[in-house]
Amino acid sequence: MPKRILVWDDRRHGTGSPVIDEQHRRLIAGINALYDGVEIGLPHAALRHALASVLALADRHFAVEEAIMRAHGYPDLARHESEHRALIAHASNLVNALDPARPARTALAFAYLVDWAEAHILQADKAAGAFVAARTQRPEPALADGSSALPEPPR
Ligand SMILES: [Fe+2]
Ligand SMILES: [Fe+2]
Repeated sequence: MPKRILVWDDRRHGTGSPVIDEQHRRLIAGINALYDGVEIGLPHAALRHALASVLALADRHFAVEEAIMRAHGYPDLARHESEHRALIAHASNLVNALDPARPARTALAFAYLVDWAEAHILQADKAAGAFVAARTQRPEPALADGSSALPEPPR
């Protein structure tokens, strides 16, 4: 039976930004869908493609979050950005580690991804959200294409 390895909880994970929270929900859904894919035995190539899609989604999410922090003069922006860059720098390792024939290695890749996401949302993203919420009620900056939505996660 497929499991959720990350469960979104508004009170626990909410940053105070509806745009960021919605993107986090989609990222978590993508990670859970990928985990389900491993559990039900999707082909190796499909899993790697799905993980690459989740990481690409994360990269676009980081750009949105960084634009919001920059627009509000968030003082801890550089450190926050370096956490984002650390995940992206690790992306190809994670994709390569995902191998259903090597379950221990796959489990480690998931553990890294889940730990990174939980720790980053609970600490860095919530701190940034609290700063933005406390400082101003100004609306979040619109994206270049006028949208704030990310596509649905891969299934
Ligand atoms: Fe972040
Ligand atoms: Fe985030």
